[in-house]
Amino acid sequence: MKQILITACFLLLLKSAAAQSTKLAPTPPMGWMSWNFFADKINETDLKEMADALIRSGMANAGYHYIFIDDGWQGGRDNKNNIIADPVKFPSGIKALAKYMHDRGLKLGIYSDAAQLTCAGYTASLDFEEQDANTFASWDIDYLKYDYCHAPVDVATAKIRYKKMADALRNTGREIVFGICEWGPRKPWLWASEVGGQLWRTTYDIRDKWKNLSDNENAEGILDILDINAGLHEYSGIGKWNDADMLVAGLYGKKGPSGDLGGTGCTNIEYQSQFSLWAMMNSPLYATNDLRNMNEATKNILLNIEVIAINQDALGKQAVRQIKDSIWNVFVKPLANGDVAIAILNRSDKVQKFNLSFSTLGLTGKYEIRDLWLHKNIGKGNNWKGNVQPHETKLFRLKKI
Ligand code: GLA
Repeated sequence: MKQILITACFLLLLKSAAAQSTKLAPTPPMGWMSWNFFADKINETDLKEMADALIRSGMANAGYHYIFIDDGWQGGRDNKNNIIADPVKFPSGIKALAKYMHDRGLKLGIYSDAAQLTCAGYTASLDFEEQDANTFASWDIDYLKYDYCHAPVDVATAKIRYKKMADALRNTGREIVFGICEWGPRKPWLWASEVGGQLWRTTYDIRDKWKNLSDNENAEGILDILDINAGLHEYSGIGKWNDADMLVAGLYGKKGPSGDLGGTGCTNIEYQSQFSLWAMMNSPLYATNDLRNMNEATKNILLNIEVIAINQDALGKQAVRQIKDSIWNVFVKPLANGDVAIAILNRSDKVQKFNLSFSTLGLTGKYEIRDLWLHKNIGKGNNWKGNVQPHETKLFRLKKI
């Protein structure tokens, strides 16, 4: 009897944790993250300007609701050990910044690390989990990205440290999304949801490049990250997302974190591919470019609401890479209304012709084919043929007829 009761309680707890995650992040979070553009040189004025630009550009209406403050906001601890913001960078304080966001229908994310110092060497939360969680809640924070620099390498410690912060956030009573950022070495897709995360980074930091050109670069570009994240589809679902890291659209090789280690920039076709593929993989969509000065090509990518709809689809299924060879990758993603999205990536450096019969993907019958980059229906049938540019991703939505 006792055994049955304990099991029932445990199952109830698991169920309520899952319900909480579903509620906190029913679809992959979207917004703008400060790291690639500003590194740690952030301040409240720039962040407010980005929020204004998010609204002015139409991105907020398209679903980008978060401004994520990354590393570099911290100013140490006060004499009661409360974590404080750098008073020069944030003279009005973080609570006032959160109010600025909330007044405009946006949300505010913040950053810390499961050790004494963050990756960029600022004050972090180890041993102050409850106190910091309470501080974040008192500032009306909506999201915490929790990094893992300066922490031990083993999985057991990572689970303990992440769970401690997840519990502390939950105990505040405020709804705060928890983004786990240990970059993949401890396979967080196996445990991050269980310890209380709604999403988890699956790779090291993305650089603004298509792919690693040599072993010396040893830092991930779009294709390198794709190849890690694509195989993890079975771990992703509503309230538990594989996070393939930030979008690099519009950075064009800008100096800074994403410009290091071979990050000399991508073409618009490559940025468009990243957006299509990240949408198909249900990765969170965090823009990182200067939203105040976007060219038309970048706007077309970030504001493609038909592609965003694939990412935000209520069914929450990450695409499966059904074809994978040295030239072609084809991804298939079922959607809530019965449609199917397919992405066709040409990995090669040459224009390639493709003739894809949908039945090879298990899709029988006939479909109306909509090209989500051309924004038009391009035909009916059970196959697609055409040219794909080097590094381009075609993205189609198929409706059964
Ligand atoms: C790590 C993370 C990045 C960023 C920096 C900040 O590298 O993976 O996304 O948050 O730290 O220092």
